[in-house]
Amino acid sequence: MPEFISVITKEEIHKKIVILASKISEDYHGRNLLLIGVLKGAFIFLSDLARALTIPVQIDFVRASSYGDSMVSSGKIELTHDVQIDLKGKHVILVEDIVDSGKTISYLKDYFLSKEPESVKICAFVDKYERRETDLNVDYSCLMTKEGFLVGYGLDYAENYRELQGIYHLKL
Ligand code: IMP
Ligand code: MG
Repeated sequence: MPEFISVITKEEIHKKIVILASKISEDYHGRNLLLIGVLKGAFIFLSDLARALTIPVQIDFVRASSYGDSMVSSGKIELTHDVQIDLKGKHVILVEDIVDSGKTISYLKDYFLSKEPESVKICAFVDKYERRETDLNVDYSCLMTKEGFLVGYGLDYAENYRELQGIYHLKL
C-alpha cells in the first residue's frame, strides 16, 4: 500500500498563496501581467494564485511533458500545447507546480524569451532547490523542499492524486 506523509495542509497552502499573491501584486502593479500555467500540474495553483492577486491579470497555458509516468525526468521536453496570447509588451510569470531538475522550466523560459515579452519570471509552488541541474533561478515559490516525491495540489504520480487538497510525500 502506498503511504502518504503530510507535507503541507490546505490551510497552510492558503496562507502561503495570500502572501505570495500580495508580493506579486506589489511587484507587478501598473504592468501588463500574463500568467502562463504549465499544464497539467499548475492548474490548481494558478487558479488559487490568480484569484488572490489584487491586480488585473491575463492567463494562458502551455503544456510540456518530460516525465511520462516515471518519477525521474527524462530530460527531453516536448511542447504539446502553445500559448494563444501575444507576449509582446507583456510581463510574463511562468507558473509551475514544482521545479525539480529545472530542465522543463529552463527550456520554457528560453522559448518564451524568444517571443520578445518585457520580462519572464518563474513562480513554482514547490522549489526542490537541491536537485537543480541548471543555473535557473526560481523567482517566487511557496515551499522549499530537499527530496522526496510529492503528490497533491496538482502534483501527480502517473496522473493520480492531483485532486488532493494538501501536499503529501508519497512512499511506494
Ligand atoms: P524538472 O524538469 O526536473 O524540473 O521537472 C519538472 C516537472 O516534473 C514538474 O512540472 C512536475 O510535473 C514533475 N515533478 C518533479 N518532481 C515532482 C514531484 O515530486 N512530484 C510530482 N511531479 C514532479
Ligand atoms: Mg507531472
